[in-house]
Amino acid sequence: MTFSLQVNGRSYTADVDGDTPLLWVIRDVLGMTGTKFGCGQALCGACTVHVDGVAARSCVTSIESVGESQVTTIEALHTVAHGKALQDAWTELEVPQCGYCQSGQLMSAAALLNETPKPTDDDIDNAMSGNVCRCGTYQRVRAAIKRASASA
Ligand code: FES
Ligand code: FES
Repeated sequence: MTFSLQVNGRSYTADVDGDTPLLWVIRDVLGMTGTKFGCGQALCGACTVHVDGVAARSCVTSIESVGESQVTTIEALHTVAHGKALQDAWTELEVPQCGYCQSGQLMSAAALLNETPKPTDDDIDNAMSGNVCRCGTYQRVRAAIKRASASA
């Protein structure tokens, strides 16, 4: 079946089954490989994108459920509110280690700042608790979110 979808401000079509996860449409059909596959079960956050500005696990989001919603991936992080500030903070504080989880970390962080521009430590911990980092960059992730929040 052919689905129309809006990704990063552009229209695309994908000829896939309706239960195909958005993650695979983004990566395999559209060729945007910045969004990562980790667990496939909404447990790690590596696949996080925005659907209408809200953080969503694209590995468990079926393409048929997306409809006309606006999907934003890491490739367009700089276009969302606080996106550039987050990119700068991530660079300045050298947050990533292997980097695998960081697309998801950044998209969750951007969704947090979109909703709560000046988050408390608890706000940050709650919003980021679903993003797992096997390299243990959690302290720098939190520090970078605070820096981006302060600079906005
Ligand atoms: S790959 Fe989607 S949450 Fe882990
Ligand atoms: S930087 Fe390696 S998994 Fe997070």
